[in-house]
Amino acid sequence: MDYHFVVVAHRVLVTAFLVHYVWKTFLLLSNKKDTLAAYTAKTRIAEMLVALLFMLSGFYMIYAGPSLSATMWIKIAMVFASIPIAIIGFRRNIKPMAIVAVLLLVGAYGLAEMNKAKYKKEDKAPVDTSTVAGDPVAVGKEVYTAKCVACHGDAGDAQLAGAKNLKITTLTDDQQKDIILHGKGGMSAFPLPDDQLNGVIAYLKTLKQ
Ligand code: HEC
Repeated sequence: MDYHFVVVAHRVLVTAFLVHYVWKTFLLLSNKKDTLAAYTAKTRIAEMLVALLFMLSGFYMIYAGPSLSATMWIKIAMVFASIPIAIIGFRRNIKPMAIVAVLLLVGAYGLAEMNKAKYKKEDKAPVDTSTVAGDPVAVGKEVYTAKCVACHGDAGDAQLAGAKNLKITTLTDDQQKDIILHGKGGMSAFPLPDDQLNGVIAYLKTLKQ
């Protein structure tokens, strides 16, 4: 399955789930009991389906994606903690529990967004290759170790997060440069300076047997 598609689907499902729960909490807090009961009955199957799908896609991302940061593990723990609290809170109309459950979900969503923003910034942050300047392969290795191993692995063939195997890529240097500079699918853009871009291309050649 296309990893990037799963990531996008996960995001859409999670957003729908969150909006749904914020709405349910609003109904509970404003004492619209009948409306809440009717809404809950009408959305029961859809809710179960969406919850199941966002968990399955989440598990797939843990399994097939790059290793998770501590922030993401906290986020996952928050989502799992919110489930029993939400079930009890809404079943028994305990408002503080419903609020805690929704806050956990909103917090988890916020952490995920923060994490995404952090990675985006790190992808753009420059790598210092001044100590090996003039040696393209060494420059490329520094850049590759700092920016690329998370998905492509030390040897280039890890294929995490849907990444392509760089040991057997059939792309020309220019096509590779284009993908590195501008990103593609699940790979973000890495705006490297020329010497580092050429260095990475030189280093990738050493990874091919
Ligand atoms: C977040 C994970 C991730 C990181 C980090 C990452 N890549 Fe990728 N890379 C991918 C994915 C996913 C693809 C496949 C894109 C597609 O075709 O949809 C890819 C494809 C490529 C390709 C094209 C290979 C082919 O045969 O199509 C090259 C070259 C490449 N990456 C180089 C790099 C380099 C160099 C770095 C570090 C500067 C890097 N990547 C960092 C995920 C990543």
